[in-house]
Amino acid sequence: AAPAALRAQLLRWYDAHRRDLPWRRASGSEEERAYAVWVSEVMLQQTRVPVVVGYYDRWMARWPTVRSLAAATQEDVNEVWAGLGYYRRARFLLEGAKQIVEKGEFPHTASALREVRGIGDYTAGAIASIAFNEVAPVVDGNVVRVISRLYAIADNPKESSTMKRFWLATLHSLLTTYKELEFILFCSWELVGQLVDPLRPGDFNQAMMELGATLCSKTKPGCSGCPVSSHCQALALSMENSSVQVTDY
Ligand code: ADE
Repeated sequence: AAPAALRAQLLRWYDAHRRDLPWRRASGSEEERAYAVWVSEVMLQQTRVPVVVGYYDRWMARWPTVRSLAAATQEDVNEVWAGLGYYRRARFLLEGAKQIVEKGEFPHTASALREVRGIGDYTAGAIASIAFNEVAPVVDGNVVRVISRLYAIADNPKESSTMKRFWLATLHSLLTTYKELEFILFCSWELVGQLVDPLRPGDFNQAMMELGATLCSKTKPGCSGCPVSSHCQALALSMENSSVQVTDY
């Protein structure tokens, strides 16, 4: 695939179709944006967008800053979280907020963000790219499906070894030069790291997630409306509906 064309087509589609979500309204400082992205991404990990919106608004009304959250109690946090499930996520948000306030500033890079309690590769990449414009990849189940279709990768996204390989490859691709193509042959997952748009990494990552959550669905993908269908090897090979691509991640 030609990364420049793919990026441009994906971003144009995203600009035209992006949903107006409360955490996407750019306002405030980078740190305020980072906090908003953090809270929303943690809520979105196991919960769908329409449900998250209400919880997000209530949470941000109560704790508009990391500092205010750090002063909350576990009971307060659980109360606002009630109904979202997986309460460990709420505990990590509170512990993470305390850690950040103690540190004195919101970490700005994906690698520094990963040191915060409860922030893993996914959340670190999301915050770094969306709030701080770092060219860092974000990989969730939807992105795995999009990438595995784009490159017709016959692998099971449900297996954790696949996800690990994916991350190793994306990290590697950011460090490597174009000449080291043998790694690409060995592990095609790497290609995703080269795709992240260098000027709009946050929008690119959200566009990939959005594409995977909407058009590039597990079953009956909407290829006729897909902005990057001309780059899709699964479509070219008529394997967009193969069992691998529809794995329930
Ligand atoms: N799913 C989880 N986080 C998302 C985001 N920031 N944009 C689109 N879909 C998402």
